[in-house]
Amino acid sequence: MRKQFFAVATLLIMTIAVQAQNSKPAGTPLYKNAKAPIEQRIKDLLQRMTLEEKAGQLNQVNGGVFTGPAANDPGQKAKLDLAKKGGVGSFLNVIGVAETRNAQQAVMENSRLGIPLLFGFDVIHGYRTVFPIPLAEAGTWDLAAIEKNATVHAKEAAAAGVHWTFAPMCDISNDPRWGRVMEGGGEDPYLGGLVAAARVKGLQGKQFDAEHIMACIKHFAVYGAVEAGREYNNVDVSRVALWNKYLPPYKAAVEAGAATVMNSFNVFDGIPASGNKYLVTDILQKKWGFKGFVVSDWGSFGEMINHGYAVDEKDAALKALQAGSHMDMEANVSGRFVPQLVKEGKLTMAQVDDAVGRILYFKFKLGLFEDPYKYSNADREAATLFNAANRAQALEAAKKSILLLKNNHEVLPLKAEGTKIALIGLYANSKEDMFDFWIANGTANDAVTVKEGMEKRFGANNINYAPGYMADGSTDEQLVKDAVAAADKAAVVVVNIGISGKMAGEDRALANINIPEGQIRLLRALQKQGRPVIALVSSGRPLVLTNIQDITTAIVQTWILGTETGNAVAAMLAGDYNPSAKTVMTFPYALGQVPVYYNHFNTNRPAPETGDASWKSRYRDIPNEPLYPFGYGLSYTNYHYSNLSLSSEKITRSQPLQVRVTVKNSGKVDGEEVVQLYIRDIAASIVRPVKELKAFQKVFLKAGESKEISFVLTGKDLSFYDGEGNTRLENGAFKVMVGGDSKTVLEKGFELQ
Ligand code: BGC
Repeated sequence: MRKQFFAVATLLIMTIAVQAQNSKPAGTPLYKNAKAPIEQRIKDLLQRMTLEEKAGQLNQVNGGVFTGPAANDPGQKAKLDLAKKGGVGSFLNVIGVAETRNAQQAVMENSRLGIPLLFGFDVIHGYRTVFPIPLAEAGTWDLAAIEKNATVHAKEAAAAGVHWTFAPMCDISNDPRWGRVMEGGGEDPYLGGLVAAARVKGLQGKQFDAEHIMACIKHFAVYGAVEAGREYNNVDVSRVALWNKYLPPYKAAVEAGAATVMNSFNVFDGIPASGNKYLVTDILQKKWGFKGFVVSDWGSFGEMINHGYAVDEKDAALKALQAGSHMDMEANVSGRFVPQLVKEGKLTMAQVDDAVGRILYFKFKLGLFEDPYKYSNADREAATLFNAANRAQALEAAKKSILLLKNNHEVLPLKAEGTKIALIGLYANSKEDMFDFWIANGTANDAVTVKEGMEKRFGANNINYAPGYMADGSTDEQLVKDAVAAADKAAVVVVNIGISGKMAGEDRALANINIPEGQIRLLRALQKQGRPVIALVSSGRPLVLTNIQDITTAIVQTWILGTETGNAVAAMLAGDYNPSAKTVMTFPYALGQVPVYYNHFNTNRPAPETGDASWKSRYRDIPNEPLYPFGYGLSYTNYHYSNLSLSSEKITRSQPLQVRVTVKNSGKVDGEEVVQLYIRDIAASIVRPVKELKAFQKVFLKAGESKEISFVLTGKDLSFYDGEGNTRLENGAFKVMVGGDSKTVLEKGFELQ
C-alpha cells in the first residue's frame, strides 16, 4: 500500500516535472530568438499557442481610435481587451505613432505570448501627401516614377506606425460607372500588370525595413467586372476572360513579391471569392506559388451567407478557410468559430497552422518581435509627413498625370505673362470637392486649389474668378451671369467642370456619367462670347465628354491630382510642363456604349470603319468608336511615325521578332511620347482581341528630333491562355501595330511558323 503510494507519487511528480519542462523551457523561448530561422520560430510559437490564440491571429478588427475620450468607450474598450487576450492579429484603421504605439503596448504588456499586432490601412494614393489617383498616375506610363511615388506613400505610412496597405488594386475594369476605376491601372492587362508590379516594389522595397510597408493586391479576383458598374454587384465572366484579361495584373503583382492578397466581394463561377478554392488555392497558391497570406475584404467571409453560399457564420468561417483564405477582416467569424471547427474535426490543425504561420511570418519578417515599436517614432513621423521632398514628388506626379484631350488652334499653352484669364468653376476653388474618398490621412486644407495655383503662376490680378455652378454641378441665372461678366474682362476662359472628387472611390457607383446639365449651360453661355473656352475636367473616371466637344476649344482631363493639383495644372496651362499622359481607360462616346474598350473581339460581323454598316454589329444612333481611345493623349508638340519595319516576315517559335519604327518630334517644343506596340493574332484556337498592347516605350524627343525605336517580340508575347490557364502559342498570321494611341497606328504582318 505504502509502496504503491510512493510509486504513484513519484510518477505524478515526474509527470509534473516533464510538463513543466515542456511548457517552460530554460532561457529565452526559441520564437524570441532573433538569430533562429523564421520557420523554426514560427513552429516554436505555434506549439505554444492555444487554439483560441491561433484563431485570434486570424482576426482583423477595425480599430479606430483608442486614446483620449475613446479610451472609455465600451466598444473600443472591448476591442482592446480582446487584443490584450491575444484575440486580435491585426487592426485596420489604427494610424499614427501615438495610436499604434498605444495599441501595440497594450498587447505586448498584457497578452500571454506577446505576439505583436499588424496595423493595416488603405494608403491608396499617398498617406498624408496626396498623389494623383492611381488611374491618372497609370496614364503616365512611367513605371519608374510610379514605383518612386509608391515609395513615398510607404515612407509616410511607415513613419506613422502603419505596416501594411490595402493596395494596389489590380482589378481590370471597362466600366466608368464603377466608382473604383480610380483605384486601378486602367483597362489593359499587360500595362495593368506592369503598373501593379511597380507599385508593389515601391511600397515594399527590396526588404521589409522600417521605410516600407507590406502591399496587398486586391480584389482577388475579377471585382472590376461588377455588372453595370454597380458596387458589390454580381460578376459573371468566362474562364478565358479570367485568364487572359483579368488575372494578369494580379499575377504580375504576385511575381513582384506582394506579401498579401485580398479576396473580392463578388462570386466567380457562382462561388464567392472568399470561399473560392479555384481562385485562392488552385490558382494563387498552387499555380502561382504565392506564399503570403490572404485577407478577406471587409466582412466578406460573413457575407457569403448573403450570397447564398454559407448557411451561417460558422459555415462561412469553415468555407473561407477550406478555400485557402487566411485572415478575416471584420466579419469576426474566424475568431469565434475556428476553435470549434477544429474540435469538431471539420478543420485540421494543419490548416489552421498554415494560415496562422503565414501571418506570423510577416510579423517576424518585419522585425516586430525584436522591436514591436519599430514603426513608432514620433520624431520620424513629424519629419516625414508632408515634407518638402514628398510634396515635390507629388507635384511631379501630378504634372505627368494631366491628360490633354483636345487643343484646337493650339490655344494651349497660355501666354504666362499678362494674359487676362477668367477662371470659372466652383471646383477650382473648393478644397471640399478636390479629393476622393481614399485620401488616407491627407487633408483638403493642405491642398493647392486650381485657383490658388493659377493665381500664383499667372498673377492674382490676371485671374478673374467666378464659381459658375453649385456643388452638384447645377447652375442658375445669376451664377451664369457672374461667370459671363468675369469672362468679359478676360482674353481666355478656363472652366473647371466635371464632378466632385467625393464621387470617386468605393460606394460611388454612378448611372449617369455625363457632364452635368448646369455646366453645359454655363459652357454654352461662355462660348457664345467668342473667347477660347478651355475645359478642365475633374473626375475620378472617364466621363462622357461628347456634349462639350462643340462648346470648348480645349479639353484637359485633370482627374484628381492630389495635394499639388493647382500648381500642376498651372504649370501645364502655362507650358512649363508639356503634357505627355495617355489615357489607360477608354472615354465613351455615350453611356450606352459601356463597356467600351480597345481590346475587344472582332465579332462575327464587324462594322466597317466607313461605308455601309447595314446588318453589321453597330448602333443606329451613335458610332461604335469611343470618343477617345485607349492610349490617347495630346502634347504641345506633334509626333510623326514612319518606317515601321520587321526583322523578318516569317519567324519561328524560338526566334524573336525585332520591330523598328521612327518617331519624330515634328513640333516646336521638346516632349515625351509613349510609343505603343500592339499585336493581333489573326486566327487562333480561342478568339483573340483585335488589338493587344505588348510593349511600349516612353521617349523624350527634342523639338525636331527623330529616333528609331526598337522593340523585341518573343513567343511569350504572342501566346495566350486557354480557360484552364495553360499557355498556348500557335502558328499563323499576326499583325504588329505601332503608334501614339491604340487607334492611330502603322501596321505590318508576319507569320509564326
Ligand atoms: C474595400 C477594400 C478596403 C477595405 C478596408 C473594403 O470595403 O473593398 O478595398 O481595403 O474595405 O478599408
